[in-house]
Amino acid sequence: MAAVTADQTTQGQARGTAQATAGGPDGPAGADVAQQAAFDAAVAADERIEPRDWMPDAYRASLVRQMAQHAHSEIIGMQPEANWISRAPSLRRKAILMAKVQDEAGHGLYLYSAAETLGTSREEMLDKLHAGRQRYSSIFNYPTLTWADVGAIGWLVDGAAITNQVPLCRCSYGPYARAMVRICKEESFHQRQGYELLLTLGRGTPGQRAMAQDAVNRWWWPSLMMFGPPDDASAHSAQSMTWKIKRHSNDELRQRFVDICVPQAEALGLTLPDPDLRWNEERGHHDFGAIDWTEFQEVLKGNGPCNEQRLTQRRRAHEEGAWVRDAAASYALKHPAPTRHAHAPAHITEAPHTEMHQAEMHTPPNAEATA
Ligand code: 3HC
Repeated sequence: MAAVTADQTTQGQARGTAQATAGGPDGPAGADVAQQAAFDAAVAADERIEPRDWMPDAYRASLVRQMAQHAHSEIIGMQPEANWISRAPSLRRKAILMAKVQDEAGHGLYLYSAAETLGTSREEMLDKLHAGRQRYSSIFNYPTLTWADVGAIGWLVDGAAITNQVPLCRCSYGPYARAMVRICKEESFHQRQGYELLLTLGRGTPGQRAMAQDAVNRWWWPSLMMFGPPDDASAHSAQSMTWKIKRHSNDELRQRFVDICVPQAEALGLTLPDPDLRWNEERGHHDFGAIDWTEFQEVLKGNGPCNEQRLTQRRRAHEEGAWVRDAAASYALKHPAPTRHAHAPAHITEAPHTEMHQAEMHTPPNAEATA
C-alpha cells in the first residue's frame, strides 16, 4: 500500500474501508452518507482512492468497465503487430518489434491486476471479452497490410494512446494511476520507434516513401477515433471527470493529438490525409475535417474489417493456454507463496504521490517524438 503520512492515516480512517460499510455502528444509511462525504472530499482534494477505501458502487463499476477495456486493448493490440514479427526487414527491427509486443502483454497484466483490486477476477474479465460483453479499442480492428503499418501504429496509435493515457497517471484510483506511470514510459518508446521507422522509410526509395504515406493515410482517421465519441455523445465523460478518473474530455485530447501530429508529419515529410486540416489562429489550434462516426459505430458493433479475426484469435490463444494456467494453479497449490512485504515498512513498498505527479510531468505527450 502507499506510503502513509499522518494526515492520510486520519483521512483513511474517516473514509473507512469497504468492509466497514456493512453493519457499522451508525447503521448503513448513516455510514453511507459519511463515507460518501469522505470519498467526495478525498476526490476534491486530489487524494488517491485505494482498494480498501469505501467507494460508490458506480465509481467501482465505471473503473472496472474502463480498466477492463483498457487491459483487453493491450492484449488484443498485440495481434496486428505480431503479424509482422516474422517479416521484419532486419534483426534490429525484429528485436524492437518483439520487445514492443511483449511490452503490450505486460501492460495487459498490470491493468488486469489493477482491475482485480476492485473485486473482479481476471478470468471474469477475459470471459466477458470472449463473450463480446466487454470492449477493446476500435483501433485494433484494422488490418496491418504492409511493414509501414508497424511505423504508423507506433507513431499514431501509440502516440494517441500516450496523449490519452498521460492524464490517467493522475487518475483518482491509485492502482490505475500507478500502473499508467510505467505504461506511459513504455508507450513513449513505442511511439518513438514508430516515428523513427517512418523517418527511415521517408528517406528511402520512392516505393518506401509511398508505402509510409499509404500507411499514414489508413491509420490517421481510426487513430482520431481512439479518443472516443465527441463530447456531446460521450455517455461517461461528465461523471468520469467529476470523479477525476478522466482529466480531460475526448475532444480536448483529440485536439491535443492533432496539434502534436501536424508538425511531426511535416518533419517526416508525410501528409496527413485531411484537406480541411489547417491552423486556426483565433482558436490557437488546428481545425480538422469531420470524423466518420458511422464507421466508428460500425466497428464498435463488431463490423470492422478485423473484429471477427481478432476475437477468434484471442479465444483460440486462451484455449491453447489453458494448460499453462492449470500448471501454474497446480504449482501454486503445492508451493504457496510467502506473504509479500509482511515486515516491510510502508514507505519502501510504493512511491509517494509526489513522485507520481513528477513522473507525469516528466512524461509529456509525445515528448520524445521529435528528439
Ligand atoms: N473503442 C472502443 N470503444 C470505445 C472507444 C474506442 N476507441 N471509445 C469509446 N468507446 C466506448 C466506451 O467504452 C463506451 O462504451 P460502454 O458504455 O459500453 O463502455 C462508449 O463508447 C461511450 O464512450 P465514452 O466516451 O462515454 O466512454 P469513456 O468515458 O470511457 O471514454 C475512452 C472512452 C477515452 C477510451 C476511455 O475509456 C479511456 O480513456 N480509456 C483508457 C484508455 C484505453 O482504454 N485506451 C485503449 C487503447 S489502449 C492502447 O491503445 C494500447 C497501446 O498499446 C496502443
